[in-house]
Amino acid sequence: MPLDPLLVATAAEAGLAAGRIHRQYFRQNPEIQKKGRIDLVTAADVEVEAMCRALIAARFPTHRVLGEEEASGAGVSEGPYRWIIDPLDGTTNFAHGLAIFSVSIALEIDGQLVLGVVYDPMAEELFTAEVGQGARLNGMPLRVSTRATLEDSMVCTGFPYTVREARHRPVDVLSAFLRETQAVRRLGSAALDMCYVAAGRLDGYWEEVIQPWDIAAGAVILREAGGTASGLGGEPFDAFAGHVLASNGLIHDAMAKLIREVRHQP
Ligand code: IPD
Ligand code: CA
Ligand code: CA
Repeated sequence: MPLDPLLVATAAEAGLAAGRIHRQYFRQNPEIQKKGRIDLVTAADVEVEAMCRALIAARFPTHRVLGEEEASGAGVSEGPYRWIIDPLDGTTNFAHGLAIFSVSIALEIDGQLVLGVVYDPMAEELFTAEVGQGARLNGMPLRVSTRATLEDSMVCTGFPYTVREARHRPVDVLSAFLRETQAVRRLGSAALDMCYVAAGRLDGYWEEVIQPWDIAAGAVILREAGGTASGLGGEPFDAFAGHVLASNGLIHDAMAKLIREVRHQP
């Protein structure tokens, strides 16, 4: 059954409003602070999350919000609705003036992801999906690619802010994909990585350490575009599992097998 149209409209409205804030700050020397040694936060991250929270609170006061920049759901009772938001996915790109970033907004009802919106304000691309209703890019239906072998595929990955502390394994997996595929990319916005697989621009994406707000919206969009999301070794998808494998479905087993082989090496 389709969702309440106000939920869908609110997600899209928040995404577009987020993009307006991103554009105000982008390449304007925004103040940059460090959450960790290489983990950045800008005024845009904070302002977008506050705007999204205010919009949701005004329309749906009982809904919980899990956002990257603030504690989750404080003061709101447990209920079936939870929004999962990354106000700026690709902060490092943003801080360097590189135009690859997005806002990611997902809605969970009773623990099931049902709605995803990812907006890239520089390309003006609004990716949307509602469970059972298909995925769209600026209103046009989206479909994953039909490439069926790793040899013909272009895949993508990302690295966590803890990469220096645990870098041997990501590099081993990366090296295996460099060997087996046509090309490997690292774009810097996990939400867009997922959407690009949904749009057939990439054939697969994996990341070994990831947060729910990076991938929750993208997972709905990808699945509705005919793709597959799972855990890194092919386990059922869980946005909170801390790792992800996404693909057009056709190369999913081959990607999962390669990852398992590398990770099981001593
Ligand atoms: C990061 C981006 C990046 C991924 C990192 C994420 P942030 O999110 O999605 O592509 O590799 O794992 O943390 O910090 O820019 O919101
Ligand atoms: Ca992120
Ligand atoms: Ca972020």
